[in-house]
Amino acid sequence: MSSPDAERWDARYRDAAIPQLLSPPELVHAELADIATLAPVLDVACGWGDAGLWLADQGADVTLTDVSAVALAAVEARASELGVMVNTVARDLATGSIPAGRWDAITCVHYLDRALLPRLGGALSPTGRLVVAVATTTNLERHERPSARFLLEPDELPTLVPDLTVTHHSEAWRANDVHEAWLVAQL
Ligand SMILES: C[S@@+](CC[C@H](N)C(=O)[O-])C[C@H]1O[C@@H](n2cnc3c(N)ncnc32)[C@H](O)[C@@H]1O
Repeated sequence: MSSPDAERWDARYRDAAIPQLLSPPELVHAELADIATLAPVLDVACGWGDAGLWLADQGADVTLTDVSAVALAAVEARASELGVMVNTVARDLATGSIPAGRWDAITCVHYLDRALLPRLGGALSPTGRLVVAVATTTNLERHERPSARFLLEPDELPTLVPDLTVTHHSEAWRANDVHEAWLVAQL
Protein backbone atom coordinates (compact mmCIF):
# COMPACT_ATOMS: atom_id res chain seq x y z
CA MET A 1 0.00 0.00 0.00
CA SER A 2 1.48 3.37 -0.94
CA SER A 3 2.03 6.06 1.71
CA PRO A 4 0.58 9.60 1.64
CA ASP A 5 4.08 10.93 0.85
CA ALA A 6 4.32 8.53 -2.11
CA GLU A 7 0.95 9.59 -3.51
CA ARG A 8 1.73 13.29 -3.14
CA TRP A 9 5.18 13.10 -4.70
CA ASP A 10 4.17 10.67 -7.44
CA ALA A 11 1.51 13.16 -8.53
CA ARG A 12 4.06 15.98 -8.60
CA TYR A 13 6.59 14.01 -10.65
CA ARG A 14 3.93 12.63 -13.00
CA ASP A 15 2.92 16.18 -13.93
CA ALA A 16 6.48 17.42 -14.49
CA ALA A 17 8.85 17.16 -17.43
CA ILE A 18 11.98 15.08 -16.81
CA PRO A 19 14.98 17.46 -16.80
CA GLN A 20 17.24 16.96 -19.78
CA LEU A 21 20.39 18.33 -18.22
CA LEU A 22 22.17 16.82 -15.26
CA SER A 23 22.89 19.52 -12.71
CA PRO A 24 24.83 18.17 -9.72
CA PRO A 25 24.18 20.05 -6.48
CA GLU A 26 26.99 22.51 -5.77
CA LEU A 27 28.05 20.88 -2.48
CA VAL A 28 28.04 17.36 -3.93
CA HIS A 29 30.14 18.57 -6.87
CA ALA A 30 32.62 20.32 -4.54
CA GLU A 31 32.85 17.64 -1.86
CA LEU A 32 32.62 14.38 -3.79
CA ALA A 33 34.53 15.09 -7.01
CA ASP A 34 37.21 12.77 -5.57
CA ILE A 35 34.85 9.82 -5.09
CA ALA A 36 36.64 6.54 -5.74
CA THR A 37 35.62 4.34 -8.64
CA LEU A 38 33.03 1.80 -7.46
CA ALA A 39 32.69 3.49 -4.05
CA PRO A 40 29.25 2.60 -2.66
CA VAL A 41 27.14 5.75 -2.48
CA LEU A 42 23.57 6.31 -1.33
CA ASP A 43 21.50 9.29 -2.53
CA VAL A 44 18.48 9.66 -0.22
CA ALA A 45 15.25 11.35 -1.33
CA CYS A 46 16.95 11.56 -4.71
CA GLY A 47 14.14 13.09 -6.75
CA TRP A 48 15.27 13.30 -10.39
CA GLY A 49 18.62 11.92 -9.22
CA ASP A 50 20.96 14.78 -10.08
CA ALA A 51 23.32 14.02 -7.20
CA GLY A 52 23.38 10.25 -7.57
CA LEU A 53 23.50 10.19 -11.36
CA TRP A 54 26.40 12.63 -11.41
CA LEU A 55 28.26 10.44 -8.91
CA ALA A 56 27.51 7.35 -11.01
CA ASP A 57 28.94 9.21 -13.99
CA GLN A 58 32.10 9.77 -11.90
CA GLY A 59 32.36 5.99 -11.50
CA ALA A 60 30.74 5.42 -8.09
CA ASP A 61 28.45 2.48 -7.40
CA VAL A 62 25.28 4.43 -6.65
CA THR A 63 21.98 3.51 -5.06
CA LEU A 64 19.24 6.12 -5.25
CA THR A 65 16.23 5.95 -2.97
CA ASP A 66 13.01 7.94 -2.86
CA VAL A 67 9.41 7.49 -1.78
CA SER A 68 8.24 8.19 -5.34
CA ALA A 69 8.28 5.28 -7.76
CA VAL A 70 7.52 7.79 -10.53
CA ALA A 71 10.70 9.73 -9.73
CA LEU A 72 12.72 6.51 -9.65
CA ALA A 73 11.41 5.44 -13.06
CA ALA A 74 12.64 8.80 -14.37
CA VAL A 75 16.01 8.23 -12.66
CA GLU A 76 16.34 4.88 -14.42
CA ALA A 77 15.48 6.44 -17.79
CA ARG A 78 18.02 9.21 -17.19
CA ALA A 79 20.67 6.66 -16.15
CA SER A 80 20.23 4.69 -19.34
CA GLU A 81 20.44 7.89 -21.41
CA LEU A 82 23.68 8.73 -19.60
CA GLY A 83 24.97 5.19 -20.06
CA VAL A 84 25.46 4.50 -16.34
CA MET A 85 24.24 1.67 -14.12
CA VAL A 86 22.49 2.56 -10.85
CA ASN A 87 20.34 0.78 -8.28
CA THR A 88 17.02 2.30 -7.26
CA VAL A 89 15.06 1.55 -4.09
CA ALA A 90 11.50 2.80 -3.53
CA ARG A 91 11.22 3.50 0.18
CA ASP A 92 9.35 5.75 2.59
CA LEU A 93 12.28 6.93 4.70
CA ALA A 94 9.95 8.36 7.33
CA THR A 95 8.76 4.89 8.26
CA GLY A 96 11.16 2.45 6.58
CA SER A 97 14.78 1.45 7.04
CA ILE A 98 17.76 3.02 5.31
CA PRO A 99 18.76 0.84 2.32
CA ALA A 100 21.28 -1.72 3.58
CA GLY A 101 24.95 -1.06 2.99
CA ARG A 102 28.07 0.55 4.41
CA TRP A 103 28.14 3.67 2.33
CA ASP A 104 31.29 5.63 1.48
CA ALA A 105 29.07 8.64 0.91
CA ILE A 106 25.45 9.44 1.66
CA THR A 107 23.96 12.50 -0.01
CA CYS A 108 20.83 14.23 1.21
CA VAL A 109 19.87 17.30 -0.80
CA HIS A 110 16.80 19.49 -0.29
CA TYR A 111 15.07 16.95 1.93
CA LEU A 112 14.52 17.64 5.60
CA ASP A 113 13.49 14.82 7.91
CA ARG A 114 14.76 15.64 11.39
CA ALA A 115 14.33 12.03 12.50
CA LEU A 116 16.20 10.59 9.52
CA LEU A 117 19.37 12.69 9.65
CA PRO A 118 20.63 11.28 12.99
CA ARG A 119 20.09 7.73 11.66
CA LEU A 120 22.19 8.18 8.53
CA GLY A 121 25.53 8.07 10.36
CA GLY A 122 24.90 4.45 11.31
CA ALA A 123 24.89 3.52 7.62
CA LEU A 124 28.28 5.08 6.81
CA SER A 125 31.44 3.06 6.22
CA PRO A 126 34.25 3.84 8.73
CA THR A 127 35.63 6.50 6.37
CA GLY A 128 32.30 7.46 4.81
CA ARG A 129 31.03 11.01 4.44
CA LEU A 130 27.53 12.33 5.04
CA VAL A 131 26.90 15.26 2.67
CA VAL A 132 23.80 17.34 3.34
CA ALA A 133 22.47 20.51 1.68
CA VAL A 134 19.10 21.81 2.90
CA ALA A 135 17.56 25.28 2.67
CA THR A 136 17.22 27.40 5.81
CA THR A 137 14.47 29.74 6.97
CA THR A 138 16.55 32.66 5.62
CA ASN A 139 15.50 31.40 2.19
CA LEU A 140 12.01 32.85 2.88
CA GLU A 141 13.52 36.35 2.48
CA ARG A 142 13.69 35.70 -1.29
CA HIS A 143 11.39 32.73 -1.96
CA GLU A 144 7.95 31.66 -0.70
CA ARG A 145 8.76 27.98 -1.18
CA PRO A 146 9.77 25.67 0.35
CA SER A 147 7.52 26.67 3.24
CA ALA A 148 8.93 26.95 6.76
CA ARG A 149 8.23 23.36 7.75
CA PHE A 150 10.73 22.13 5.14
CA LEU A 151 13.45 24.57 6.24
CA LEU A 152 16.20 24.40 8.82
CA GLU A 153 16.56 26.99 11.55
CA PRO A 154 19.88 28.86 11.53
CA ASP A 155 22.70 26.67 12.88
CA GLU A 156 20.31 23.75 13.40
CA LEU A 157 21.89 21.27 10.98
CA PRO A 158 24.93 20.17 13.06
CA THR A 159 22.63 19.52 16.03
CA LEU A 160 20.82 16.87 13.96
CA VAL A 161 23.93 14.66 13.68
CA PRO A 162 25.12 14.56 17.31
CA ASP A 163 27.01 11.27 16.91
CA LEU A 164 29.13 12.44 13.97
CA THR A 165 32.21 14.64 13.60
CA VAL A 166 31.30 17.63 11.50
CA THR A 167 34.11 18.52 9.09
CA HIS A 168 32.26 21.29 7.27
CA HIS A 169 29.26 23.44 8.13
CA SER A 170 28.30 26.69 6.45
CA GLU A 171 25.13 28.64 5.71
CA ALA A 172 24.91 31.12 2.83
CA TRP A 173 23.17 32.11 -0.37
CA ARG A 174 24.46 29.67 -2.95
CA ALA A 175 24.90 29.81 -6.71
CA ASN A 176 21.33 28.45 -7.15
CA ASP A 177 19.96 31.50 -5.23
CA VAL A 178 18.87 29.24 -2.37
CA HIS A 179 20.00 29.95 1.19
CA GLU A 180 21.39 26.53 2.08
CA ALA A 181 22.97 24.95 5.12
CA TRP A 182 25.78 22.65 4.05
CA LEU A 183 27.20 19.92 6.22
CA VAL A 184 29.83 17.24 5.74
CA ALA A 185 30.29 14.79 8.60
CA GLN A 186 32.02 11.51 9.39
CA LEU A 187 31.98 8.86 12.11
C1 LIG B 1 12.51 18.71 -2.80
S1 LIG B 1 12.72 17.08 -3.44
C2 LIG B 1 14.48 16.95 -3.52
C3 LIG B 1 14.94 15.91 -4.50
C4 LIG B 1 16.42 15.86 -4.76
N1 LIG B 1 17.18 15.40 -3.60
C5 LIG B 1 16.94 17.17 -5.27
O1 LIG B 1 17.78 17.79 -4.62
O2 LIG B 1 16.50 17.62 -6.33
C6 LIG B 1 12.32 16.06 -2.03
C7 LIG B 1 12.29 14.58 -2.37
O3 LIG B 1 12.01 13.86 -1.17
C8 LIG B 1 11.21 12.76 -1.51
N2 LIG B 1 10.48 12.35 -0.31
C9 LIG B 1 9.47 13.01 0.31
N3 LIG B 1 9.04 12.32 1.38
C10 LIG B 1 9.79 11.19 1.43
C11 LIG B 1 9.83 10.07 2.29
N4 LIG B 1 8.97 9.97 3.33
N5 LIG B 1 10.73 9.09 2.06
C12 LIG B 1 11.60 9.19 1.01
N6 LIG B 1 11.61 10.21 0.15
C13 LIG B 1 10.72 11.21 0.36
C14 LIG B 1 10.30 13.27 -2.61
O4 LIG B 1 9.74 12.26 -3.42
C15 LIG B 1 11.25 14.18 -3.39
O5 LIG B 1 11.86 13.46 -4.43
